[in-house]
Amino acid sequence: MGVKQFNWGKNDIVNIFTFVTSRKEIFEMSNSDYWDQRAKKIGHTGWADKMIYSYDQLARVKALTSVISGLQSGKELALDFGTGSGDFLKPLSDVYSKVIAFDISQEVIKIARTKHKDLKNIEYIQADSISEIELPVNQFDTILSITVLGHLLNDGELNKTLDRFYNLLNKNGLVIAMEYMSNNSRPASQYQRFLTSEEWEQSFSESGFKLVKTFGFYHPSESPCESFNQYKRNFLFKSLRKFQSYIPTGKIFRYYAIKNLKGCLDFFWEGKSDDSIKIMIFKKSEIKNRN
Ligand SMILES: C[S@@+](CC[C@H](N)C(=O)[O-])C[C@H]1O[C@@H](n2cnc3c(N)ncnc32)[C@H](O)[C@@H]1O
Repeated sequence: MGVKQFNWGKNDIVNIFTFVTSRKEIFEMSNSDYWDQRAKKIGHTGWADKMIYSYDQLARVKALTSVISGLQSGKELALDFGTGSGDFLKPLSDVYSKVIAFDISQEVIKIARTKHKDLKNIEYIQADSISEIELPVNQFDTILSITVLGHLLNDGELNKTLDRFYNLLNKNGLVIAMEYMSNNSRPASQYQRFLTSEEWEQSFSESGFKLVKTFGFYHPSESPCESFNQYKRNFLFKSLRKFQSYIPTGKIFRYYAIKNLKGCLDFFWEGKSDDSIKIMIFKKSEIKNRN
């Protein structure tokens, strides 16, 4: 049997050129355009799979509500950095006198504002960078950053952002950051990069922060918890997932997610070294490694 030879023809080259140029806008899309489009398409910024999203976002809100309400720091001013569709604003607004919801995407700010029009202690700010806007320095008690820092696509941007966090927080202020922990050098995608647990700690430390506590959080495929497995086994879900692009299945998934998560906290725990998603709490330390 001979090996099939592939001879490049003029048409193949034209086709490849057309394919690449038709996707030019993807490569040229700015970070805020990317999040605007994603929010327009799916109505939020989380998992695109509605079955996973319905459970996952609810579990995140429950875990973070518990973490926020247990903090010993001041309760005056908080920043929700990269607020997305604003799901963490309610727990923040319940605890802090004032909350700033910041994002680079206009579209997500619109969604968050609409969702929380009854909450009067939230100020929404959209800008290209947290470093460009005027905010009161040394006054924030807490900065919440839920799966945002992994979307800062280079070390320069990450360092600048963490330096800004340092500058905004008061002396007892805390950062609560939830991020995916890569266990190897996984290449960055067009909108996300993957740091190991040590790399996250190192970056924060270079901006003057010390890790004081971690919690582990379940991951739907890498470290599923029992309540997620039970939820996923629902006999209706196989057919619903097939048709989720065509029929509004979100409410049904949400109904079962609420049911499965009722009175349950198995999706987060005291941090372990091999957690694939971590909620990290950092405080300001005296020594700043970067000048
Ligand atoms: C994965 S979503 C998380 C949203 C929200 N924190 C949540 O957990 O539901 C990432 C968010 O970060 C925002 N974002 C991306 N780059 C940012 C930056 N440089 N500064 C602030 N927000 C940014 C995006 O617009 C998007 O809303």
